[in-house]
Amino acid sequence: MNINNQKKENEIILAVETSCDETAAAVVQGGAHILSNVVASQIESHKRFGGVVPELASRHHTENITWTIEEAMEKAEVTFDDLDAVAVTEGPGLVGALLVGVNAAKAVAYARRLPLLPVHHISGHIQAARLERPWRYPALALVVSGGHTELVLLRDEGEYEVIGQTRDDAAGEAYDKVARTLELPYPGGPHIDKLAAEGTPNIELPIAWLEPDSYDFSFSGLKSAVINTLHNAKQRGETIRSEDLAASFQQSVITVLTEKTKRAADHYKVEQIVLAGGVAANKGLRTAMSNTFASSSVELTIPPFSLCTDNAAMIGAAAHVQWKKNITAGWDLNGVPGLALI
Ligand code: KG4
Ligand code: ZN
Repeated sequence: MNINNQKKENEIILAVETSCDETAAAVVQGGAHILSNVVASQIESHKRFGGVVPELASRHHTENITWTIEEAMEKAEVTFDDLDAVAVTEGPGLVGALLVGVNAAKAVAYARRLPLLPVHHISGHIQAARLERPWRYPALALVVSGGHTELVLLRDEGEYEVIGQTRDDAAGEAYDKVARTLELPYPGGPHIDKLAAEGTPNIELPIAWLEPDSYDFSFSGLKSAVINTLHNAKQRGETIRSEDLAASFQQSVITVLTEKTKRAADHYKVEQIVLAGGVAANKGLRTAMSNTFASSSVELTIPPFSLCTDNAAMIGAAAHVQWKKNITAGWDLNGVPGLALI
């Protein structure tokens, strides 16, 4: 390997992520080695509103972006002279939130005459896997977060093909809405997960399989069924154990996620499966996926919790692919709320 190629594989990237309610900056080397990973969470601010308030998110990003980047540089023990590129989430996300990160990244890149690498947020969630181990292709990623539920096929490095997605609510969104009905704090996913572990899945709830050959998902019917079950019980003066309701809801979500992933993995003969996004922190889902693929030769990668929820190290990992392909952005880079994954 000559010096140029070595640089191509071992570049040092400052990555910035501000698509939703975490202000994050990280320094990543060669797309696989985390030198620092700083996340300023806004959950406490949004909690009292029961969900993310976009305007509030933008304001917090503005307050936090400078120190977050400074801290990431300090913790990585690198100077701006050591950087090879600056990467940033271009979309999808909240436009006002994205713009803060995009402009901060532009400012650093412009001042230091560094290439600016645009990154898709979902490619970031998926590429968090390379911080754990190298890819084996073809691969399949199940991305389950507050805003996304997607089955993505990777035939080769950085080639994303969305083969299935939610037609309504994202899995995390369904968790958060069901949690709100059970009067649990935001974000509700971890609370439902905990309750579910203490309950029995003895309440009949629907599973949306959709068309037999479809890899799409739908969670709004399930969410409504949970809400109706609670309301009906209340009207009849009956009590329902929230642990059992949580366990039944969780079982319905996990069954459809796991089954469709297994079917797609068999069909496309994949070598590796990656579980990504905030809902990948779910204990029930992690166990079900591990059990499903335990006896197969397919390698299952589940990044640690801190790399499943929004962070900038995953953006640095995804930016490595852009770097190798020389995909850079101009100074007119914008935040794109509905950016497609291609
Ligand atoms: O990936 P993420 O941090 O942000 C988005 O890009 O959306 O995901 C946040 C989502 C929230 O809906 C949260 O309730 C859910 O991930 N979540 C969980 C768990 N931990 C976080 N859902 C189910 N079980 C969990 N343990
Ligand atoms: Zn995310």
